[in-house]
Amino acid sequence: MLQHRNVDQQLIPEILLALPAWTDRDSLEQITNQAVARLRRGRRNIANSLGWLQNAEVRLDDWIRTDVAEYLDDPGFPEKRRVGIVQSLHRFNRWVLAYQRFFNMLRPYLLRIEQQQGRAARILELASGSGEFSLALAKIAQHAGMSLSVTGSDYFVEHVNSCKNKALKQNLNVEFKQLNAFDLSGLPEHSYDLVFVAQSMHHFTPGQVAMMVHQSMRVAQTGFMGVDGQRSLSLFTIVPSAGVLMRSTDFIHDAWITLRKFYTESELAMIAQIAAPKAQVIARRSTLPGYSILTVMHPENNA
Ligand SMILES: C[S@@+](CC[C@H](N)C(=O)[O-])C[C@H]1O[C@@H](n2cnc3c(N)ncnc32)[C@H](O)[C@@H]1O
Repeated sequence: MLQHRNVDQQLIPEILLALPAWTDRDSLEQITNQAVARLRRGRRNIANSLGWLQNAEVRLDDWIRTDVAEYLDDPGFPEKRRVGIVQSLHRFNRWVLAYQRFFNMLRPYLLRIEQQQGRAARILELASGSGEFSLALAKIAQHAGMSLSVTGSDYFVEHVNSCKNKALKQNLNVEFKQLNAFDLSGLPEHSYDLVFVAQSMHHFTPGQVAMMVHQSMRVAQTGFMGVDGQRSLSLFTIVPSAGVLMRSTDFIHDAWITLRKFYTESELAMIAQIAAPKAQVIARRSTLPGYSILTVMHPENNA
């Protein structure tokens, strides 16, 4: 529920066909924001002509959606509490075995890069927050006998500093740097194989996701993978209950907004098609429930 696959299949081709060409980062951002707004408006416009269930689903989805900012995105929010939220998210990630699951999603690409290139795959994680996935990835790969070069990054310097300390304490060779996910212009072309981002796309506007995907395709030789919670009603029971168990009102606040902001898989696919028209784009749900996965691969490098 809340994915609107049938409705979007009708609407998206028309929207993409009518889209003006974008020429720079600003126009990409603007055009993508407009395209997603048009898709959501289109759903509302045809809702009455759908069956009652689909009509109700579109209206409920519209009512749920919000533009309210999460504490994590508020630059004025106290640094210590912001670090506390990403640490709570880390505990939640461990409960739901998120890191092993993210690794499983990446594994075929990492193995293929290692085989084809004859060297360690180079992965850049954007918006890595607590940095725990980057650290876990290095450990899991080590156990699996894979050679991997991992770099984590985040916009907020307090996260980056805390991650550098963790890597040092755990004696792990994982680099952390401060990066704005929408501005990767400081990174050389093909300086990584894969760019990965977890549980962060909903923090960004459609235009910002497009800028991130577009620039990742320049920076990454193989492509981009983004994982986020799946837009669905079931998560509305699970995630806040986890917040209560963790006794973190800040986490509950952000988790509740997060659920309302997740993109649908067809929205993610459309955004990526606009940002990287020549790439192979797939947006799907994960094998075990809970996540949507967006892969955007250079055509010759798909796993
Ligand atoms: C919900 S957290 C996800 C953290 C981590 N990926 C995880 O799954 O546990 C979202 C992260 O996005 C980061 N962020 C927000 N805006 C960003 C930007 N423009 N560039 C890079 N990171 C950003 C935040 O600092 C935060 O760490």
